[in-house]
Amino acid sequence: MSRRHKAMGALDVVLDYVRAEIKVIEERDPAIHNPWEVFLYPSFWAILFYRIAHRFYEKKNYFIARAISQFARNRTGIEIHPGAQIGTGFFIDHGSGVVIGETTIIGNNVTLYQGVTLGGTGKEHGKRHPTLKDNVMVSVGAKVLGSFTIGENSKIGAGSVVLDEVPPNCTVVGVPGRIVRYHNCHIPRETMNQIDLPDPVKDDINVLKHADSEITNQLLELKDELKYLKKSLEEKKAE
Ligand SMILES: CC(C)(COP(=O)(O)OP(=O)(O)OC[C@H]1O[C@@H](n2cnc3c(N)ncnc32)[C@H](O)[C@@H]1OP(=O)(O)O)[C@@H](O)C(=O)NCCC(=O)NCCS
Repeated sequence: MSRRHKAMGALDVVLDYVRAEIKVIEERDPAIHNPWEVFLYPSFWAILFYRIAHRFYEKKNYFIARAISQFARNRTGIEIHPGAQIGTGFFIDHGSGVVIGETTIIGNNVTLYQGVTLGGTGKEHGKRHPTLKDNVMVSVGAKVLGSFTIGENSKIGAGSVVLDEVPPNCTVVGVPGRIVRYHNCHIPRETMNQIDLPDPVKDDINVLKHADSEITNQLLELKDELKYLKKSLEEKKAE
């Protein structure tokens, strides 16, 4: 491939990125009035530099990867470790003070606000940062610490500190984070029960277990009846 073709290919990639970012920002930030403003968003530059740094990280060029990520951090106030894995449609509103750790995994269409940390607790090794599934929103100042998963479409409230797994379609608020909404059902503070959350798979298993024990009882009863019939037949034969 000629240099010219390579340069055109790279330009296409950048233009696709710019178009996608304009779409994402227009969808999620009502404050944008003109597509050119996208170039003024720290999120635009931070994610662009992250995508470049991540390529170097994947090729094990760790120093260059970190250098790019630190340059972006100094320019935008957003620190994304080049080892993090981030899907499409990612948006960080305002940006300042956002930190995303090395083993974080982020799905598609995730939104973060300023002051969010996706970090570790310092107690885990290997995978030590969270996994955020598609459409998760982490509000301003929230900290999500540990290697657990935040399920699809869940929201983390402003200023929360989340230290545990969050199922899909939930809202979590407070320090430590507690579930206040589950599948769009409001869970009132006073009756909230975080331990016995609905578990449809467990419920199905319990139904099957119940059916199984009923069948076993019926079989035992039939066995007893058969024994009784056999015995009375033998007695009749003997007479
Ligand atoms: C969490 C949030 C997204 C609301 O989600 P929701 O699913 O609509 O939840 P609700 O508003 O129904 O709130 C449910 C309960 O949590 C409480 N709650 C909501 N956000 C809270 C927060 N950040 N901290 C503590 N409690 C909070 C509500 O008061 C309500 O309490 P109740 O059960 O006693 O009535 C929203 O409150 C929030 O934090 N938004 C911040 C968005 C942001 O970062 N903006 C920055 C722009 S610069």
